[in-house]
Amino acid sequence: MEIQNFSTKNFDFINYINCSEQQCRTILHYRNLKDISKWMRNSSEISIDQHLSFINELKDDNDRKYFAVFQDNKYIASIYLTKSKGGLWERGIYIIPDFQNKGFATLIEREFITKIKSLGIDTLIAEIDKNNLSSIRFHEKLGYKPIKEENNYIWFILNENEMLNQIRLGGGYVIDNYAFINFTSLSIENKEEVLTWRNHPSIRKWMFNSNKISISEHLSFVDSLNNNIFKSYWKISYQNADVGCCYIDNIDYESKSGEIGLYYRPDKQNHSVFGIDFVYNIYNFMFNALKLNILYGDVKQDNSNSLSLAEFLGAIKISEYQYKGEKIYRLMISSITFNSISKESVCPRNYLKFIKNNYIIK
Ligand SMILES: CC(C)(COP(=O)(O)OP(=O)(O)OC[C@H]1O[C@@H](n2cnc3c(N)ncnc32)[C@H](O)[C@@H]1OP(=O)(O)O)[C@@H](O)C(=O)NCCC(=O)NCCS
Repeated sequence: MEIQNFSTKNFDFINYINCSEQQCRTILHYRNLKDISKWMRNSSEISIDQHLSFINELKDDNDRKYFAVFQDNKYIASIYLTKSKGGLWERGIYIIPDFQNKGFATLIEREFITKIKSLGIDTLIAEIDKNNLSSIRFHEKLGYKPIKEENNYIWFILNENEMLNQIRLGGGYVIDNYAFINFTSLSIENKEEVLTWRNHPSIRKWMFNSNKISISEHLSFVDSLNNNIFKSYWKISYQNADVGCCYIDNIDYESKSGEIGLYYRPDKQNHSVFGIDFVYNIYNFMFNALKLNILYGDVKQDNSNSLSLAEFLGAIKISEYQYKGEKIYRLMISSITFNSISKESVCPRNYLKFIKNNYIIK
């Protein structure tokens, strides 16, 4: 992402890499004040040489953008973005002490957000020390929501990303007679039920962790999904009958990609809805409801059912590797490929033809 200097109604935002040496020294002076640095992840004092070499590194760094904020040529704040997990941007901010509690952070943040939105950034993360109560209050007022606590920090998120809201808020989604209910919204009975499917030998054998999962492990896993914006699990029903599950893991919000997994309800595998229609509708959900652009999936070589269904729907093998003595294919499919397939062509006759041409007669 390219952002150089810019001005808003009230402030001039100067990229650190464009600051004069005198400005760099002023920034460092405030950065090293105890009341500012104590809230930094690296709270130790920084020397001018370290500071200048840090600024030098920023010149070639697309994943870190630091701005000094001036009003009438007076330095009053720094605000910065660093690329974080899953392609999300983490935002840091501090106001020099004499200017705190006067509404500056609120105004700077608002004007900064308007600018970065115009560059396509719709989500910000802030990782805040649990004891930094004024910062927590400030973020809450701006509309940031807490999503998880880790070590001594609380993660806050300010988000207008539709996909992230779908993942974060759980709930359900109905699309073409299929209902997708997030695991976090399931009743305890339903949670137990999806575990019995997952633990069935005919499903487990295709999983990378093929161990049986205990109910307590399962419940604490489902609970952990409440605080995880990088993975999401869904129970699927068709015309009100439960038919299976799907999930998306390692979500990257920048490329809108993730790793897909799915399994059928084992006692219903011969139901006519299974197979192509089931997988087609999961892809449809991921691409057209969750709005992902690319799906990756790892499938064991022997799992020809899964492989052929994915390839029939447009997935391609992009690499292969060995895992516990088995060959694994890494597959990829894009929303463009998937959406170019007509729904009518996704029928048993064409699938059988595809199998004959690609899997039996080589
Ligand atoms: C956290 C921090 C960024 C907040 O900046 P700030 O400029 O003081 O924030 P604001 O002034 O916009 O808002 C803070 C308070 O000022 C009040 N305020 C807003 N406008 C005001 C005005 N015009 N006059 C007087 N007070 C005002 C707000 O109501 C708010 O008070 P409240 O929380 O009790 O309601 C700042 O305290 C800071 O830099 N702290 C040290 C570093 C740090 O913690 N950074 C964040 C790390 S995640």
